[in-house]
Amino acid sequence: MRKYLVAGNWKMNGSRDSAARLINDIIQGLEPRPEAEVLVCPPFVHLAEVNRLLKGSSVALGAQDVCAENNGAYTGEVSGAMLLDCECRYVIVGHSERRALYGETDPMVARKFMTAQKAGLIPILCVGETLADRERGETHVVVTRQLKAVLDAAGAGAFAQAVVAYEPVWAIGTGHTATPEQAQEVHAFIRSLIRTADVKIGDATRLLYGGSVKAANAAELFRMPDVDGGLVGGASLEAREFLAICAAAG
Ligand code: PGA
Repeated sequence: MRKYLVAGNWKMNGSRDSAARLINDIIQGLEPRPEAEVLVCPPFVHLAEVNRLLKGSSVALGAQDVCAENNGAYTGEVSGAMLLDCECRYVIVGHSERRALYGETDPMVARKFMTAQKAGLIPILCVGETLADRERGETHVVVTRQLKAVLDAAGAGAFAQAVVAYEPVWAIGTGHTATPEQAQEVHAFIRSLIRTADVKIGDATRLLYGGSVKAANAAELFRMPDVDGGLVGGASLEAREFLAICAAAG
């Protein structure tokens, strides 16, 4: 009953030309299937053009971040309303790179989540532990803290219109993918946390795995019962690789 979601996080890569080529190649190669939704999240400055090019296709558009404020004197920021105006449907919030490199805290991520929803976007909330956290045996502690910050602020009902991405920091961009069993274990735990707040919403929330997903490991990850798709970084920059990951969903 949960529809797979395969999301490409292009991060800070590409030019107007390469972004156009990439989206065109994805659209041309994609075989739309009802059981899987495909999403691309280009850099802000490429959103409008990518949106123009994906018109009429089944590919959805998303952004990589959003401001926690609605509008006004916030130099350099981009609001949820602006993203909606660019026809984004989704926005990533709390990516580990934002948390680690730009000081985003749990309360800040919770505000971004709520601001995005209020603007009409579906937030993709990223959570995940570092290698040190895992080695200390604190994976559940960290994921609980990150998820509860949003659950408590926004309420379980908010997860009816949200996606959670489990992205172990040690797996992002490293080539060290979590095993399907490791991913499943944390996904089941995340689902249990949401179910504790609301059983129906917990069962319906899509949980994506992210961290060195590629064509070679996507199918075994997506086969796990609580893995409902992937948030794909590096491998989403190559159309053929991304299309193979999309084909592995469902
Ligand atoms: P990766 O990135 O696929 O390059 O590991 C995933 C992400 O950061 O969303």
